[in-house]
Amino acid sequence: MRLLITADLHYNHPRSRPLAEDLIGQMNQAGGDVLLVIGDTASADGDDLERCLSLFQFHGPKLFVAGNHELWTRRDNSHQLLTQELPSRIRQLGWHWLQDEPFTADHLAIVGSIGWYDYSFAQENLQIPRRFYAAKVSPGAAERLPQHQHLLEHHTDISPHAADIIARWNDGQFVKLHQTDEEFLDRLLDQLSSQLKTLSQSPRRIIAAIHHLPFAQLLPPPHSAQWDFAKAYLGSEKIGRLLLQFPQISHVFCGHSHFPAQSHIGHLQAINIGSGYRKKTFLTLDVD
Ligand SMILES: [Fe+2]
Ligand SMILES: [Fe+2]
Repeated sequence: MRLLITADLHYNHPRSRPLAEDLIGQMNQAGGDVLLVIGDTASADGDDLERCLSLFQFHGPKLFVAGNHELWTRRDNSHQLLTQELPSRIRQLGWHWLQDEPFTADHLAIVGSIGWYDYSFAQENLQIPRRFYAAKVSPGAAERLPQHQHLLEHHTDISPHAADIIARWNDGQFVKLHQTDEEFLDRLLDQLSSQLKTLSQSPRRIIAAIHHLPFAQLLPPPHSAQWDFAKAYLGSEKIGRLLLQFPQISHVFCGHSHFPAQSHIGHLQAINIGSGYRKKTFLTLDVD
């Protein structure tokens, strides 16, 4: 059985769209038995998601996992998008909403989750206090934004180095979860854990598809402070710790960082597909 796997098509982004169309064209020619798309296909507002997924010409099962960009909305309901609206829209298109229902075929199972972040990948050398990560602004950016001034007032824990960093993570403006990032991640991992426990009762190989990074080994190399600020939002070590509890998982695929990376960790192979705004790619995996 051949899997075709991609992520981060970002179809609603003007510069990314032609590259997504080109990649989908290549995938349509590639053959394969199961198609797996792991997040950031398009944001949920409008119909870019439908228009992008409709370009795939694939006769086998088509498995869909959401990314953080599917939760970007001008409305106030990202959580409702993930739990109700998106599953319904994806199923109407004839795709499989993987997060709520693992895919099984013979001795193979594929599980999926958007995953999330809890700032466990925050870079300590930046010396940024945790409240800034929760607000999704760096100290230098908070100083310029009236709504974030309270993060600076009456505090003496901001080093000159941290004060110079100007960066934001835009989930802070466009994703409205109405819960903390840690609570959201824990709920997602509870769901994934119970699916894995059920699946591991039968002898089968399991492949995991998680939009956010499950292991720090997949993080991009050190970069400027602005870019390194964003690492706090690339994933969580909790995701990897959960996956390592299940010896039947042979591979975990992710996207989100737009940086290709691969690492053998414990018993499993962890792979970041590495598609991004300016360059897109897909992978194939042959499984018995
Ligand atoms: Fe992305
Ligand atoms: Fe993403």
